[in-house]
Amino acid sequence: MPSIGLLVFSWEIPSLLSTPMLFAVQPSATAFLKHEYLNEYVFMVQARGIQIRENVKNIGAQVLEQVVRGAYSINGTDYSYDFNFSESNALPTTYLPEGFTYLPSQVCPERLPSMKGRLEVNMSEISLEEVERSLLEGKPNIAPGGYWKPTDCLPRWKVAILVPFRNRHEHLPILLRHLVPVLQKQRLHFAFYIIEQAGTEPFNRAMLFNVGYKEAMKDLNWDCLIFHDVDHLMENDRNYYGCTDMPRHFAVKLDKYSYMLPYNEFFGGVSGLMVKQFKKINGFPNAFWGWGGEDDDLWNRVQFANYTVSRPQGDLGRYMSIPHHHRGEVQFLGRYSLLRHSKERQKVDGLNNLNYSPLVSRRPLYTNITVSLSRKLAPITDY
Ligand SMILES: *[C@@H]1O[C@H](CO)[C@@H](O)[C@H](O)[C@H]1NC(C)=O
Ligand SMILES: *[C@@H]1O[C@H](CO)[C@@H](O)[C@H](O)[C@H]1NC(C)=O
Ligand SMILES: *[C@@H]1O[C@H](CO)[C@@H](O)[C@H](O)[C@H]1NC(C)=O
Ligand SMILES: *[C@@H]1O[C@H](CO)[C@@H](O)[C@H](O)[C@H]1NC(C)=O
Ligand SMILES: *[C@@H]1O[C@H](CO)[C@@H](O)[C@H](O)[C@H]1NC(C)=O
Repeated sequence: MPSIGLLVFSWEIPSLLSTPMLFAVQPSATAFLKHEYLNEYVFMVQARGIQIRENVKNIGAQVLEQVVRGAYSINGTDYSYDFNFSESNALPTTYLPEGFTYLPSQVCPERLPSMKGRLEVNMSEISLEEVERSLLEGKPNIAPGGYWKPTDCLPRWKVAILVPFRNRHEHLPILLRHLVPVLQKQRLHFAFYIIEQAGTEPFNRAMLFNVGYKEAMKDLNWDCLIFHDVDHLMENDRNYYGCTDMPRHFAVKLDKYSYMLPYNEFFGGVSGLMVKQFKKINGFPNAFWGWGGEDDDLWNRVQFANYTVSRPQGDLGRYMSIPHHHRGEVQFLGRYSLLRHSKERQKVDGLNNLNYSPLVSRRPLYTNITVSLSRKLAPITDY
């Protein structure tokens, strides 16, 4: 017999369930429901608010099914937490062979022999200086600001990596140590922009992306933008950050959600758009102060423009996230009502009502865009 633990919690969406749920949970199935993950999960479910009530019901049913099945199955969990090698090995035939010869006059391929698949994720802390030293050692071709491009072939895409930031100084070097070599293996022309929010207003991830976009475009005519959380580390280097099939949601399977997509419209963690698409949708909304909801609004904007979001197949879209707490960052409780008016707001809130005065400096591996944000910098007159 499996041992059975009990866990009680209530969903904060009244229409879904009016009473707290009592779940019988088998320990092997509890990874998904560990307390900090549970909070994240409940938040995810809340994030879509009333607008996706139907979808939320489905998620609730899925979770319930998983938990109940887990509790009664003598086989333990039905969910594999290991890599499915047959899935990642199904692809190699389409990747170029080891002996492939690059030509400086030819556009770099997308499926390179240097992209091997599964990556080790190293989350141990390291100083920024140490990462700078090790990445620049003997390879002087990373220019200040973290600009890099391959020399043995012509880069196919120019990709700006935008990372919103506040109070995560220990995470940034971990991300750079992990991601810079991957992008080099993918032979992309890239640079990192860290957009740091100064001041005491609630964190505004979306507005930081808008600022990062505007500043990045002053540097170079980038083809595409990757909106990247600082704590997300990809587990597969075949998750290609070039602008194919965009808009794209890259972070499909997160360890903190048991490698399941929390809901179909989830667009958070790591996503990407081509510059022309981002312009067309008027960027991110500026009105989301505090965490939550802005990625859902971006999803809506993308739908209103009739784009279809693509996702990496199988295990390519796996990520680990550096565990942390939302240190004093507040949730944005007004997101539900804003999300209900995504469509009307799209025209008046975004790239076109944004004012800011950044402080820009170059570090060896990234451009630091520090900006103080407030509501009056993104006025909405017409709404
Ligand atoms: C255990 O797994 C086997 C094979 O997948 C399945 O046929 C069987 O029904 C499972 N047992 C239970 C109790 O779920
Ligand atoms: C692994 O992936 C392959 C191909 O997608 C699939 O046929 C197989 O059932 C998967 N195995 C497991 C254990 O999930
Ligand atoms: C992780 O990174 C640290 C610091 O850079 C290094 O000392 C350690 O060997 C790395 N671990 C693995 C498994 O690569
Ligand atoms: C999206 O498609 C719908 C239905 O085909 C159309 O009415 C609408 O104008 C399109 N929107 C845009 C922004 O192209
Ligand atoms: C960015 O620059 C500001 C102002 O110089 C500095 O306080 C901050 O620590 C820098 N942030 C990062 C991530 O380098």
